Amino acid sequence: MRIKVLVALAALLTGTPTLDGVSEQSVNLATPESFASIADTAARSAAMFTELGKVLTHPRCVNCHPAGDHPHQGEQGRLHQPPVERGADGHGLPAMRCSSCHQQANFDPARIPGHPEWHLAPREMAWEGKTLGEICAQIKDPARNGGRSLEELVHHIGTDTLVGWAWAPGFGRLPAPGTQKQAGALVEAWVKAGAVCPN
Ligand code: HEC
Ligand code: HEC
Repeated sequence: MRIKVLVALAALLTGTPTLDGVSEQSVNLATPESFASIADTAARSAAMFTELGKVLTHPRCVNCHPAGDHPHQGEQGRLHQPPVERGADGHGLPAMRCSSCHQQANFDPARIPGHPEWHLAPREMAWEGKTLGEICAQIKDPARNGGRSLEELVHHIGTDTLVGWAWAPGFGRLPAPGTQKQAGALVEAWVKAGAVCPN
């Protein structure tokens, strides 16, 4: 009897947590080398960006890069509960700052994600509802990417710790595909091949 309970408990603890009804999805990211067979450099570059798109369009990123003024939550990207707004600086309205709930690190007992810089991406960096081609044009554009050069973009995606949260999102959330290092390698290879956008 007790053993049965323990086994059931172990299954609960080690099994895949139920993620808003979303079961499995691709968790791997192809390496830049695996695109070597595409001889045309521009086509290779665009193909690598399409692969990177698995990360960029993942709910872990898009929930914080929404259209409009509200963050989203979970695998389905539902509106943030309780209702919060970006406010003037992306850190929330004066009465409801992100940091009043989101701490320095994930707080798993309450499923609250955390990071010292937890706040919403500015409006011009919204990815929600956009095609991958549109996202690509936007993140290359210094007027809409925080004034970043392509090299800075590589660095940001490959090493920024707020971006990195997406691969260690805490209990009950699917991490972004691959690893941050692999995503960084893909951006770098995409840039080296001419930073060509997919259609
Ligand atoms: C009153 C508390 C509270 C405030 C204030 C708050 N949040 Fe949250 N937030 C939460 C909780 C709790 C969760 C986890 C909900 C869950 O996943 O079940 C969450 C989850 C999120 C997620 C979802 C991550 C994911 O991919 O699932 C994002 C994004 C987010 N918050 C952004 C923000 C931003 C940006 C602000 C400030 C503008 C903010 N939150 C303010 C409580 C809060
Ligand atoms: C907690 C919210 C949050 C999460 C989660 C998040 N971002 Fe961001 N992101 C931001 C903020 C805020 C900025 C603006 C920071 C700046 O310009 O310095 C930003 C800016 C960016 C930029 C530069 C501007 C642009 O849009 O070109 C890139 C690239 C980026 N994020 C990539 C990602 C990727 C990739 C993920 C998921 C793996 C991700 N972000 C997840 C909040 C978030």
